[in-house]
Amino acid sequence: MMIFGATGDLTKRKLFPAIYNLAKDGHIPDSFAVIGIGRQELTSEEFRGQILDDLREFTPNGADEELLSWFEARTYYTGGDFDDDKQLFGDIKELAAKVCAEHKIPANFFYYMAIPPGLFANVARKIVDNGLGREENGNWRRFVFEKPFGHDLESAKALNADLLQLLDERQIYRIDHYLGKETVQNLLVFRFGNSIFEPIWNRNYVDNIQITVAEKLGVEGRGGYYEKAGALRDMIPNHIFQLVTLTGMEPPVSFDADSVRDEQAKILQAIKCFSPEEALSCAVRGQYGEGEIDGNRVPAYRSEESVSATSATETFAALKLSIDNWRWADVPFYIRTGKRMATRHSSIVVQFKKAPFMLFRDTPIERLTTNRIEIHIQPDEGITLHFGAKIPGPIVQMGAVDMDFNYVDHFGEQISTGYERLLFDCMIGDATLFQRADMVEASWAIVSPILDVWAAVPLRSFPNYPSGSWGPAEADELLAKDGRRWKNTEHHTDAV
Ligand code: BG6
Repeated sequence: MMIFGATGDLTKRKLFPAIYNLAKDGHIPDSFAVIGIGRQELTSEEFRGQILDDLREFTPNGADEELLSWFEARTYYTGGDFDDDKQLFGDIKELAAKVCAEHKIPANFFYYMAIPPGLFANVARKIVDNGLGREENGNWRRFVFEKPFGHDLESAKALNADLLQLLDERQIYRIDHYLGKETVQNLLVFRFGNSIFEPIWNRNYVDNIQITVAEKLGVEGRGGYYEKAGALRDMIPNHIFQLVTLTGMEPPVSFDADSVRDEQAKILQAIKCFSPEEALSCAVRGQYGEGEIDGNRVPAYRSEESVSATSATETFAALKLSIDNWRWADVPFYIRTGKRMATRHSSIVVQFKKAPFMLFRDTPIERLTTNRIEIHIQPDEGITLHFGAKIPGPIVQMGAVDMDFNYVDHFGEQISTGYERLLFDCMIGDATLFQRADMVEASWAIVSPILDVWAAVPLRSFPNYPSGSWGPAEADELLAKDGRRWKNTEHHTDAV
């Protein structure tokens, strides 16, 4: 494994801990090594020292020293200028040959690009030009690209075109860390490994679907990046669309990478693109002002480091999507994401239609229960089925009850960074949980009209939600117009 950007935050917080966890569970053979590549000039010894310190810090429940020694013996570093055509890439080639010989590793390489997206194509080109990208003698070469994959449709297309000139699509792994989450992967098993949900998973029974990814965190020192990205770009065409496609797709013919991704791509193609008018009426943006989170005062977005005092960047986005196919016609998918929200909570809520209530015509409407399935993605991963039951007593009264499945109760606590499965799949060559070029482009095509309208018409009312709330009032109005409301975690009554 060769990590470009090896001294960065992602490597320290996610990649090395993920490799450590994989090794701990016996998923990595001895014929494995990591070469870290960065701009800093460090020796391999210095790099190992840093990595081991980080692993001790980021491994909950304490690191296993024996495993750390195993790790230490397999970690190398080389530094230099990524723009330098010969020196750095020559050094990498030499080091790779030495490491392969030392550890008896067949020359199978995967390159992890934990670097700014602007460098992706350039670094990939240099790898290929220096003879390190070609698959020969039965050895593979794979390239993993972190998000964001492009900034809009045009840049994503250009990046795909550049990479596809150098590499085969099957060598390219576009990572979306939401697909590394167990609950997200479980969506496929829940829907297609059980026979009782699929018959009702359609417009005949489902009233609407709500997908929320709410964070308590603000921009956490990433103001420079976030000012150019905003909530829509940062979360929707990637993470949230993964949730939309896995929730909405047809059963794939197999779990092969392309069978699954073909079905996901069909959903993306079926999402109706927004006209400029719809971009204003079916999409809501927000920016957090100051407020309170967990009893602490927190500053407004505009007062964060590297953020303009008049910033027009959104930190909240909500959309009403229409999926134009037989399964989902007229079933809105409401999606929303925001920073500095009331709580950290990500879920998919499948809200079913009302039962014919004529038997309960004397019951006040707010007491009547509608069914829903809530898939809790994080925290407290699990699934809840919500239904009505009779409240004991001589009068027939209906109460709302929940049937809960919690991951930890059944499977125990899994220590995971979310990257384990993705790195493992890359090593075994399974691209199912990675984005294909057409999926990335279809996703950008959906959000681009909204980004264009938002850029052309800045919102004067920013900031329009206080930190610690559920977002701007317009997001509630988006559903209220349709006679519905969001299922927030503090509501114990029904979403209608
Ligand atoms: C990243 C975004 O891709 O996902 C961040 O750039 C966001 O802004 C993060 O905070 C959320 O990931 P998770 O796994 O914490 O939900």
